[in-house]
Amino acid sequence: MSVSLKYYGHSTFTVNADGVNLVIDPFFAPNNPLAADGATADTIDADFMILTHGHGDHVADAVSIAKRTGCQVISNFEVGNWLANQGVENLHQMSTGGGYNFPFGRLKMTIAHHGSQMPDGSYGGNPAGVLIYFNDGADIYFAGDTALTYDMRLIGEAGGVDLALLPIGDNFTMGPEDAVTAAQFVKAKRVIPIHYNTFPPIRQDPEAFVQMLQDAADIEGIVLKPGESYEL
Ligand code: NI
Ligand code: MN
Repeated sequence: MSVSLKYYGHSTFTVNADGVNLVIDPFFAPNNPLAADGATADTIDADFMILTHGHGDHVADAVSIAKRTGCQVISNFEVGNWLANQGVENLHQMSTGGGYNFPFGRLKMTIAHHGSQMPDGSYGGNPAGVLIYFNDGADIYFAGDTALTYDMRLIGEAGGVDLALLPIGDNFTMGPEDAVTAAQFVKAKRVIPIHYNTFPPIRQDPEAFVQMLQDAADIEGIVLKPGESYEL
């Protein structure tokens, strides 16, 4: 019984939860300059795919992986329709605030303050984060691209999470200081920073973030280099 995450740089993860493979916001080489060991979309196993919003740095490899693997794609309604227009058939469409019981656990779409235009300019609906209550008991919050929001306190008040994946890049999302506050709001036991160092405007020092998280909030931070995994 375990949940293992592998980081590919930017916001891209694969997750193995008791043998079920998930891919989150697939953005692999050559588009993702940080992509771990040059990982490309044709090397990824997936039973499920989670897409937080329509921006290219989150959906770049969604269609190719979905078509090759036949995985079920979990996204908002509009992103799902964009995939359907490109021939992706196995969709599970949701909206913010809604939860659903999947084979790997319960997934709830959370509010994110951001944009969601698709790469071709079409409307991508509202951006989201996801809260996943895995069957083995691990609770993970993947914030997606978002500002710090006071709504994050609801996640903390509901009991908090074992792990929060929070953007720290600033410019397009919250920066390191706000990510510390977000970690406190959601009552995270530990935090992995994401969405930094991919492009010049989002350069950050993740080690400085982890130190600030420890000093200001007494919360453990884990810096994953692209290609590294974390198990909980
Ligand atoms: Ni975005
Ligand atoms: Mn992004």
